[in-house]
Order: sequence, then structure tokens, then C-alpha cells
Amino acid sequence: MPRRADRILPVSELLARHELAFAAVFGPGPRPRSFFSPGRVNLMGAHLDYNGGPVMPTAIDRGTFIAVRARSDRRLRLSSTSEPLSFELDLTGAPFARQGQWVDYPAGVCESLRRRRPVVGGLDILFGGNLPVGAGLSSSASICVGTAFLLDHMWGLGLGALKRVEAALFAEREFVGVRCGIMDPYAVGLAMPEHLLWLDCKDGSNEHLPLDSARIAIAVADTGVRRELAQGAFNERVAQAAAAFAALAPFAPGATCLRDISVEVFADRRSKLDPLLRRRAEHVVHEVARTFAARDALKCGKLAGFGAQMFAAHASLRELYDVSCPELDVLVDSAHESGGVLGSRLTGAGFGGCVVMLIDRSRTASVVEHVACRFEARFGRRPPIEIFGGDPGPREVSE
Ligand code: GLA
Repeated sequence: MPRRADRILPVSELLARHELAFAAVFGPGPRPRSFFSPGRVNLMGAHLDYNGGPVMPTAIDRGTFIAVRARSDRRLRLSSTSEPLSFELDLTGAPFARQGQWVDYPAGVCESLRRRRPVVGGLDILFGGNLPVGAGLSSSASICVGTAFLLDHMWGLGLGALKRVEAALFAEREFVGVRCGIMDPYAVGLAMPEHLLWLDCKDGSNEHLPLDSARIAIAVADTGVRRELAQGAFNERVAQAAAAFAALAPFAPGATCLRDISVEVFADRRSKLDPLLRRRAEHVVHEVARTFAARDALKCGKLAGFGAQMFAAHASLRELYDVSCPELDVLVDSAHESGGVLGSRLTGAGFGGCVVMLIDRSRTASVVEHVACRFEARFGRRPPIEIFGGDPGPREVSE
């Protein structure tokens, strides 16, 4: 996670610092406009979005700060407080080329949007924020949707939330080349505080479901583990799920994705499947059922029932989808035994990163202490554990 000092600073202070950093990078001139875009945690529907299944994420009050100032030419200068390299792009030139650098995320969004309105003005843009990168909290969707939001405003495109989500998806899938599903940009772009987003990734239909945040807190514990090859391992899971679907589809008339394979069809065919694909499909088929059960529990106010589905999801991610690691498992196990956690699981793709915990608010302090001590006893260091608030989504925050 970012340095502790940054995490506890009020947003107004962080923004003021970001503006100072902007002047240091781009020089004196009119004050920049500032935008904020949140990250997200996913509570249910693990590795379901690219399988057409339902997911239940919510935005968090940590994310990306973006300061921007118009230029008199048609150049785009992009810099970040957390990355060493800066970039300059010509908005009148040929399509942007992929750099294999952080800039591909915002540049991909620009590439998508400048096709809508070719005559657009140059900008100086500085990215920063208080969201850890590669932790499973969707820093990339935060940057992409935030970039789409600010370009929509600075260039007067009149896009609206769904078109901005589409531009973010173009950047990640077509420009950067991650085979991700639709969950992350939707979670950021359609954020509503005190609510989970129910998103059906087969058709994009969605609704906001209230979460009793007076009773429960959302906490995130960071293992500190960042796997270098996580993107390749993620794409490999996407390919395996597609292969499992190809093997099962002939037995499920009308099915268009793995989500459409029923528990019954899977049970009939499981012994005929390749063992690895069987385990991947078993996770997906049952995670779909768990996610519907979690929604029913939430709608009836049965938070313990919702949380039980989260613990079951983690076990399946560990045993069938192979995306957990010992650090994540210790966090989830100690959350379980603490007695004050309703549900917990790894969030994001896995392979390290963070776990999310739904904590009984009255027991927050004792849970955090217990989980941190158990982790420290095993790995010799205390993991950052933070309580996150909700967030209303991308917006201008200039004062
Ligand atoms: C990553 C991807 C998401 C989703 C999750 C797993 O965060 O970006 O689209 O697939 O993994 O649920």
C-alpha cells in the first residue's frame, strides 16, 4: 500500500500536494483542474466476469488523482507521481503505439476517444493517488475510467458513464492487451456509496444493492505479495475457462459462455473432462450459484449468509482455480477464526494482492489485531489492514 503517511492524510491535503507536484512537473501557469476516480473491491463472483457470470463489486474511497491543464497546442503530456517515465503524444498524428509502459492505460483511453472527435485540444496530465498498484484493487480501471471522465469534460464529449466505461475497456483489452472482463470499469464507473453493484456480465444489466454499512465495515488486508507474471497467469485462466466451455458447450444447447453451463450438465460431464479444465469449470459453475445465493442473502438482510459464500468462494479459488497463495490463505483463515468477520476472500485476480473482509463494525479493532498478529507470527511482518469507505465514482474535485 502507499506510505502510511499518505494513507491517513485527508483528501484535501493529498490534492494540494498533487497540485504542487503538477507545477513541479509541468511548470508555472493556471491552476490545474483536479479529478478523482476510485478503486474497487469485489465481494462475490470471482473470475466470473470473463465467463459471462454475475459479480458484486463496490467502489472504495481510495483511488487515482488526476490534475490536468489545457495546452494551446495539440500535444498530450502524461506524467505520474509514482512512475519514473513521462510521455508526450501528438494528438494530430498517427494512432498511438503501445509503449509497454504505464502510459498505455491513459493513452489507450485517449486513442479511443479522439476517434470520436478528431479536433481536440492538448493537455498536461499528472496521475497519482493512494491506491496500491497490482494489489487487486483495480488501479488500472481507476486510471482508465478517471481518464475517460476527465477527457469527456475537458473535450466536451458529452459521453456519459457507459461510454466512458467502454473507452476504459478498449484501453485495457484492445490497447494494453489484457483479456479482462467488464467488471472493473463498471464497478468504478457506476459506483454508488453504501451499495454493492450487482452486474450480470453476460448482458451488462445491473442494479445497486444496499449494504448495511452502519453494521459492517469493509476492510482490506494487503499480503504485500506482487507476482511478476500475474498478467500472464490471468490470461492463462481466461484461456482455460474458454477451453472448458468449448468442451462442455455441445452438451448445453444455446449456451454462449461457461456461466450458461448448469450444475447438472457439469456433474454429468465432469468425469469426461481434462482434469485441469474440470477444476476450472467446477469453480466457475459453483461460483455462479454461490453469487446468486449471496445476492438472495443480502436482499433478505442475512449478512452472515452472504459472508459464508465469500469464505466458500475463497476455498474454491484456492483449491480449484489455483489463484491463491499462503499469505492470502493465512489472512482469510485468521479472519474466519477471529469470530468478528462475516466473510472474507481474496479480491481481484489473486496470485498475491489483497483479501477483503466484511467485519462486524463493533469488533473492528479486535479483528484487525488478531489477523495482523496471526500473519506476523507466520511471515514475520505486519500486513497493512485498512477500513475503506464507499465512493460515488469519478468526479471533478477542484476546490
Ligand atoms: C481481475 C480482472 C477482472 C476480474 C478479476 C477476477 O481483477 O481485471 O476483470 O476478472 O480479476 O474476478
